[in-house]
Amino acid sequence: MLFGTFTAFFMPDSIEKSRGGGVIARYRDYLPVSDATPIVSLGEGETPLIEAPRLSNRVGRRVLLKCEGLNPTGSFKDRGMTVAVSKAVEQGATALICASTGNTSASAAAYAARAGIRCVVVLPVGKIASGKLIQAIAHGALIIAIDGNFDDALRVVRELGREGEFTIVNSINPDRIAGQKTAAFEVVDDLGAAPDVHILPLGNAGNLTAYWAGYREYEKVGKSQGSPRMIGIQAAGAAPIFFQRVVEKPETVASAIRIGNPASWEFAQRGIDESRGAVQIVSDEEILAAQRWLAQNEGVFVEPASAAPIAGLMKLTADREDKSLSENAVIVCTVTGHGLKDPEIILRDFQKSAPVSADAKAVRAAIMNRQI
Ligand code: F0G
Repeated sequence: MLFGTFTAFFMPDSIEKSRGGGVIARYRDYLPVSDATPIVSLGEGETPLIEAPRLSNRVGRRVLLKCEGLNPTGSFKDRGMTVAVSKAVEQGATALICASTGNTSASAAAYAARAGIRCVVVLPVGKIASGKLIQAIAHGALIIAIDGNFDDALRVVRELGREGEFTIVNSINPDRIAGQKTAAFEVVDDLGAAPDVHILPLGNAGNLTAYWAGYREYEKVGKSQGSPRMIGIQAAGAAPIFFQRVVEKPETVASAIRIGNPASWEFAQRGIDESRGAVQIVSDEEILAAQRWLAQNEGVFVEPASAAPIAGLMKLTADREDKSLSENAVIVCTVTGHGLKDPEIILRDFQKSAPVSADAKAVRAAIMNRQI
């Protein structure tokens, strides 16, 4: 009750119900919330769906980018987190727990802070991109690094969740999937129709599951006429769904999707099969090349995992004979997280040079030198 008052104080109806009030305010009728649910929101969702003219030109099809890095904590996780944390608070939770490759922990930490409850994040030691770790620290989460990978961390979290002491906010929590399906609603609302193809990175496989649920739901209620083919892209060294077997030691530069045994594997597989979609793999080199290309040709800076669908699209369309993606297909790629999440990847290849003296002549000379 106290919490209800607190929420009402900070979120007057006029803000909560208008655009910008978050995904629960906008898509309430499609979400598992009631008047008794205290809404914990940071104004997530309504991310830009932008045309990608140079990419479209390169791959010979119309491509749009759903820029999920523009959510409050810089990734798509916030859509599911607002629902999961609101429901957790409604049910009286006092502490959240999650395993994470980084973004889930950043989002959980922020929404827990917003709700005024504790948050424990269990992370594979040394494997989290610095931007994400900094977010968890800044929001005051309790960080436990484990000697193991993401799959180990999730196993531990599942066990701890069973005791009832913590609410798990990984995507095995159905409220997370419910919130994340709003991204598919937004795509249809913005485009005026479902796209023909939707491409996204595939890690723990919750997001593809959520998009597919969202597209199907919108089709059922008559908001769209069809649903797209769902294409998931995995990194070659962490591609259990592509190879149809658990990967014991997943490895990829795209740390967000360094996962060997996805929790939502079956659900995602169903979405891929039902939609006549596909799974493709890309190498680390292809991922980093796509990341750089997108930043330099479209002005969109995304983290490596989010460049995987771009690399996948480039690969799928490179073979002009391959007609699996028709030339008049409208393609949406979800770029899931902001580039600033993982600064080390960019700095790795950046050659620092000595400063030049502070006069225009010296700076001009340095510019001319650099262009050679
Ligand atoms: N892209 C980014 C930026 C991610 O952080 C993740 C997953 C994915 C794609 C894959 O989505 O797992 O639903 O298939 N990150 C999780 C985490 C695992 O802990 O932050 P998925």
